[in-house]
Amino acid sequence: PTTLKDAYKPYFKIGVAINERQFDERDPTAAAIIASQFNTISPENALKWESIHPRLDTFNFTPADHYVSFGEKNRMFIVGHCLIWHSQVPKWVFEDAEGKPLTREALLERMHDHIRTVVGRYKGRIGGWDVVNEAINDDGTMRQSPWFRIIGEDFIEKAFQYAHEADPSAELYYNDYSLENDAKRRGALALIRKLKTDGVPITGIGLQGHVKIDSPSAQKEAKTIEDFAALGIRVNISELDVDVLPRTTRSDSADVSTIAAGSAAANPYTAGLPEEQQQALARRYAELFNVFLQHHKSMGRVTLWGLSDANTWLNNFPTRGRTNYPLLFDREMKSKPAFTSVLDDAKNF
Ligand code: G3I
Repeated sequence: PTTLKDAYKPYFKIGVAINERQFDERDPTAAAIIASQFNTISPENALKWESIHPRLDTFNFTPADHYVSFGEKNRMFIVGHCLIWHSQVPKWVFEDAEGKPLTREALLERMHDHIRTVVGRYKGRIGGWDVVNEAINDDGTMRQSPWFRIIGEDFIEKAFQYAHEADPSAELYYNDYSLENDAKRRGALALIRKLKTDGVPITGIGLQGHVKIDSPSAQKEAKTIEDFAALGIRVNISELDVDVLPRTTRSDSADVSTIAAGSAAANPYTAGLPEEQQQALARRYAELFNVFLQHHKSMGRVTLWGLSDANTWLNNFPTRGRTNYPLLFDREMKSKPAFTSVLDDAKNF
């Protein structure tokens, strides 16, 4: 096989997050690579609340419709991302007409309406939904989001119930990052165990997989997959990319350093990724996909969070204007050594 989707066909689906220029084929080069290499897609931003439901009585379905059509045209498994999140959700969602906080009942009704409308529109077409995104803190406790504060912890099970009601055949996921960290993973495992015990229709976990060149280790990644699979749910890697730049000030990193934003130390490879780092990235991808292949019986898909280094959130995080190289295609849309190592992993497995 010469494509990722063919090489991985015996094991799991291979996906990519795509943006409007790609699914509208205004970027035909990118659209062609997406169609030939991948068999599942995720919408990078088009289905988030602020995009699809910007005002109380306004739904903006056009981009999402185009996204779903692109997936159908290419016979892909189409992912919906995401229904309930604390980010990229407008402020009005949590307020009444006078700007006062909604009651629990009113917010539940608003959540129900949003999920019924969005999931219902794509019933039978979007195959799996990130129902709740990033509800857990790094220490394993529940994030104090407006969802949690106004509704209470059962906002999670309500969201799953509403999604299931709107499309009983869709897969439903809890999606989060840094689940390799022990405290956060324990929190997520406890949450999912409880959902399963209470009969909540959850089918899978999305391990986002925004990893660094040197962490988490392959062993940690393997353990994380095994821990979630043991709960009887499907494991997906939902947003994979590999940050190659040095850490700047980040609260969630073990060795917090204080590299000044915009400094050469924070942004050392503006002229291109040196060969040595290029190879290190390829080895890192090979190591990760080896873990995924070894666990393929537990896994549904591995989705990369973007196609090329030209369009990746990591160019703007944690500070804007960084030049990062986290993906499998370079800024000229050429495949990188990391692409070859991912392809070879499956061929040699
Ligand atoms: O669309 C507007 C545009 O009109 C405006 O001119 C421009 C100016 O900044 O902003 C554009 O919106 C940006 C949007 O992406 C679309 O490009 C936002 O500023 C920017 O914040 C937003 O970033 C997205 C981010 O989620 C928001 O939290 C990234 O593209 C997207 O990759 C990222 O994805 C998240 C997942 O959904 C959840 N897990 C983490 C992951 C990475 O942060």
